[in-house]
Amino acid sequence: MTPKQVSLVEESFRAVFPIRDVAQEIFYRRLFALDPALRPLFARADMADQGKKLMASLAFVVGGLKNANAIVPAVEALARRHVGYGVTSGHYRTVGTALVATLEEGLGDAFTAEVRDAWLAAYGLLSGVMLAAAGAEDALV
Ligand code: HEM
Repeated sequence: MTPKQVSLVEESFRAVFPIRDVAQEIFYRRLFALDPALRPLFARADMADQGKKLMASLAFVVGGLKNANAIVPAVEALARRHVGYGVTSGHYRTVGTALVATLEEGLGDAFTAEVRDAWLAAYGLLSGVMLAAAGAEDALV
């Protein structure tokens, strides 16, 4: 990611944070519309709580973009826990699509093509690290 893209992600995330309750709702609505088969994975989750966790971890990841190496171990551990939740590699693409659709709906005109590309780059980095860690876990079992 370029420094400009890091700034764009940081700025747009700051704009989403005050509307995070709405954003969480949009995200899960979009996610389950894209793939209703994902619902059972969240059967045990309190969805309000789940939304808060997702936002908190996104804040952590966005905050770490300037120094990505520092957050890699935590992201890898998160990915390994996700294997246990039944998450498979194809799900990462669906979540990425739902995330971009949420930002588009939440930010409106502020979600320019440049901001979209910056988020795609950030999500690509994040999911790449997670998929590699999840693959390593798969190989162990
Ligand atoms: C790519 C970035 C992602 C981030 C930052 C993220 C973040 C989180 C966090 C923070 C939790 C709380 C539990 C924990 O910390 O282990 C969680 C749980 C969970 N996530 Fe994710 N997640 C991501 C991707 C995904 C994907 C691709 C799926 C697939 C649909 C998914 C499905 C779930 C499920 C099913 C749970 C457990 C719900 C429960 O039973 O409580 N996540 N996620």
